[in-house]
Amino acid sequence: MITTWNRSRQMLDRSRRSLAGGVSSPFRAKAPVPLFFESGSGARLRDVDGNEYIDYQLAWGPMILGYSHPAMVERLRKQAEKPLSYGAQHELEFIVAEKIQALVPCAELVAFTSSGSEAVQLAHRLARAFTGRPLILKFEGHYHGWMDSALVSYKPQPDEVGPRETPQSVLGSKGQAANAADNTVVAPWNDLEILDRILAANKGAVAAIMMEAVLCNSGCLMPSPGYLAGVRELADRYGALLIFDEVITGFRIDPGGAQTHFGVKPDLATFGKAVGGGVPLSVVAGRAGIMGMMFTGGVVFGGTFNGNPFSLAGADVCLDELSRDGGAALRHANCMGERLMDGIRSLSAAHKIPLQVTGFGAAFYLHFTDRETLSSYRDTFDDNRDRLQKFLYAAMEAGVILVPDGRLYVSAAHSEADVAETLDKLSGAFERL
Ligand SMILES: Cc1ncc(COP(=O)(O)O)c(C=O)c1O
Repeated sequence: MITTWNRSRQMLDRSRRSLAGGVSSPFRAKAPVPLFFESGSGARLRDVDGNEYIDYQLAWGPMILGYSHPAMVERLRKQAEKPLSYGAQHELEFIVAEKIQALVPCAELVAFTSSGSEAVQLAHRLARAFTGRPLILKFEGHYHGWMDSALVSYKPQPDEVGPRETPQSVLGSKGQAANAADNTVVAPWNDLEILDRILAANKGAVAAIMMEAVLCNSGCLMPSPGYLAGVRELADRYGALLIFDEVITGFRIDPGGAQTHFGVKPDLATFGKAVGGGVPLSVVAGRAGIMGMMFTGGVVFGGTFNGNPFSLAGADVCLDELSRDGGAALRHANCMGERLMDGIRSLSAAHKIPLQVTGFGAAFYLHFTDRETLSSYRDTFDDNRDRLQKFLYAAMEAGVILVPDGRLYVSAAHSEADVAETLDKLSGAFERL
């Protein structure tokens, strides 16, 4: 049992005097105790107080190969001896682009950016330019980054959401340009009939339907059988593009993303997090005619760090590791995750704590709820968040780190022994609820 986080607490106090909030992303302040880390290897992290954890946060997703993966370390060490950036062309750009082309069905062409939020911004712009239409249709509870244009109806409160058939477009931040809400139409996810009606009501105006193909950011909810194919059909019928935001599902649910796993090809897709295995990299991939708008269609796009060799060296190794042996690394991560999901379900049943565990092996979520099924954002309103906070804290004391919203990411480095030890530790956390 971990009994002290004194050094982390001292460092946070010191950090707050120079770094706004003491953390580099306000989401991180939500951890039960914002920890300071000093090392990590495989599935394990060590904090500055010398405590060791089995980690299921994976730096919020990127560390799909685990920490300090030997091939990554070796390659990046060598790469660091070369120029870190050229701001010009180099071989790794097309080498990594070709690997993505080979893995991802919609990737006729790719473009590199640095963060998922940027990739989404480019995808929105391409879609509006290509179709000549103004609106992006998004779904309640889906997160597409923190930019003004995208941060709409991500976590709207029950008193803000409006009727389920015609949800309100709710801004996500103070200071956000107010017209972001006017440029976005919001729909409930996993409901084709309502989507059809909303598209009909906005006929000729929707440039793209954008979604997380698995709703990872609001509870790792899976698409209902046939739903993604149905949305594809509706997009075609109404002349809108289909964009999958695969920043989480990409290179995690399958080496070819959710589009391969579910067999539904979008027109554009955005990737981030796992593609670089820990280095900052994001990707827009899609149909050649749409991607070409950046060069012949008047779409402006830039980025000093786009395609920098350091990030692409990381991606080069990461994609090789993930695609080796027909995707064995991700099969393992997903298998370990499924085992953990089953184990957690058994623990909650044994402790008589109502819990739904949703998602897929490599990314899943704990809902402390009495509901039997969850299929879209509003279903998560009933989650018992106080109980989740207690559980997160108890898990941390037991030496297991989860994402502060109740999500778990599982990497290729998590072993059967890690899973068994995790379940043992989490059993104690359930006992304390
Ligand atoms: C689905 C999805 N899209 C976009 C983003 C934004 O990515 P970034 O944080 O790299 O800007 C995230 C981040 O969590 C995400 O989960």
